[in-house]
Amino acid sequence: MLQETGNLYLAVADDLARMITDGRWRTGDRVPSVRGLATERRVSPTTALAALRALERRGLVEARPKSGYFVRLKLRATAALPVTRPSQRPQPIQIQGRVGAVISASLEPGTIQLGSGLPDPAWFPTDVLERMLRQAVRESPRLLGEYGPLIGLAPLREALSRRYAEFGCTIDPDEFVVTNGCMNALTIALSAVTRPGDVVAIESPAYFGFLLLLETFGLKALEIPTDFRTGLSVEALSAALSAPGGERVRAVLLTSSHSNPTGATLPEESRRALAALAQKHDLAIVEDDIYGELSHAGERPRPIKAFDASQRVITCSSFSKSLAPGARLGWVAGARYADAIRLRHLTTSVASPASAQRAVAEYLDSGRYTRHLQRVRAKCAENVDRVADAVERHFPAGTRMTLPKGGFLLWVVLPAGYDSLELWERARAARVSIMPGHLFSVTGRYRSSLRLNCSLPWTPRVDAALATLGRLAKQSMTAGGKS
Ligand SMILES: Cc1ncc(COP(=O)(O)O)c(C=O)c1O
Repeated sequence: MLQETGNLYLAVADDLARMITDGRWRTGDRVPSVRGLATERRVSPTTALAALRALERRGLVEARPKSGYFVRLKLRATAALPVTRPSQRPQPIQIQGRVGAVISASLEPGTIQLGSGLPDPAWFPTDVLERMLRQAVRESPRLLGEYGPLIGLAPLREALSRRYAEFGCTIDPDEFVVTNGCMNALTIALSAVTRPGDVVAIESPAYFGFLLLLETFGLKALEIPTDFRTGLSVEALSAALSAPGGERVRAVLLTSSHSNPTGATLPEESRRALAALAQKHDLAIVEDDIYGELSHAGERPRPIKAFDASQRVITCSSFSKSLAPGARLGWVAGARYADAIRLRHLTTSVASPASAQRAVAEYLDSGRYTRHLQRVRAKCAENVDRVADAVERHFPAGTRMTLPKGGFLLWVVLPAGYDSLELWERARAARVSIMPGHLFSVTGRYRSSLRLNCSLPWTPRVDAALATLGRLAKQSMTAGGKS
């Protein structure tokens, strides 16, 4: 019998979830009984039942009286969301004003933050981290009295290297630079591989943080058609790179897994093809892997960096979505650009707080991280499903949405003619924040779409906020609304 830990049921649930998301079990199929599952998986009936209940909370199975559990029918029309068709031309960016207005409005007190991209703070083991932080400083007061190594504390870089090895990506501890969060990592990566005026290819829709970054550096964005399940179209990128008379693309900036806002994850063949394209066209890939650990079904996609034969893939991430956003700890592994990246780090941040690095390294070494991630992933899956159900109940007929397999963000597409900016205005007055779709494109596309944060603890107040959004959405039809 497998060792029965408190989280064994989540491992079983993850495994079963994969059977469903991979299509091995289909809608309406009967799932093995509690007893059958217990025998098959060599776990206790209590663990088997807990696993089935976890799947039920994620919306993947439903219990039918006296018959057992069945794979649940999902009504969502995700498959019908077409690949996007952004402008074919590189565009200069002016988005700061638009983003600033939405972000400052969302900070108004009493607002229900369905627009934010932040995870629920209650997910994180702050008590354990606080203890480790205090112990670290007590044992080594120098962690406060000195900068520490500029590229980051060796124990943290070594722990990161071991973690990457676990999911099949070899990175030497000395290739990492520990940064102040992922945004900082992306900043130094981009500044190392581009000059003002250069063209950078991005997903479309793309995280507005990327657009702000490109604007800050005076870069132009080439938005690439994107699929809501499989991410940036490598074929479209390849065509753009080879287009006669096209401007040279210096870098690709993208989120490889459970992207913000699409939830899309690049399949392995696209990762391989992207790495090969980078070599062929001598361009850098700046990979943001911040949601990589948050797959609902547990499988951890290998970063694009794992396929990088020519050392052109820079991978960036942080603990902001998975462990401790307030620690402001991220990292970048710089491939052939590592020296330039170290220099940029020195001139932007010098170093990251050593005490936080020591505490997080200790946490990773303690073996708690894997168990913690299982809980966070289960939460993500459960919450996304709840919010999606509420959208189905409350929003105008014909609304479609993504069905992300990881993370906690949901992209909602209102029927043509509805306007998410108008909805944002109305929702603001009702103290509910959303992220209107036009913030995710250089040219203000996606006016019928919006991004929702599903991490909020599920309460009647959140359900009521989604009902309010649905009601206001129905009033947001404007002559100017465009998809
Ligand atoms: C795709 C993506 N990259 C980077 C960040 C920022 O990460 P950090 O807080 O570690 O700087 C976010 C936060 O929302 C994000 O969604």
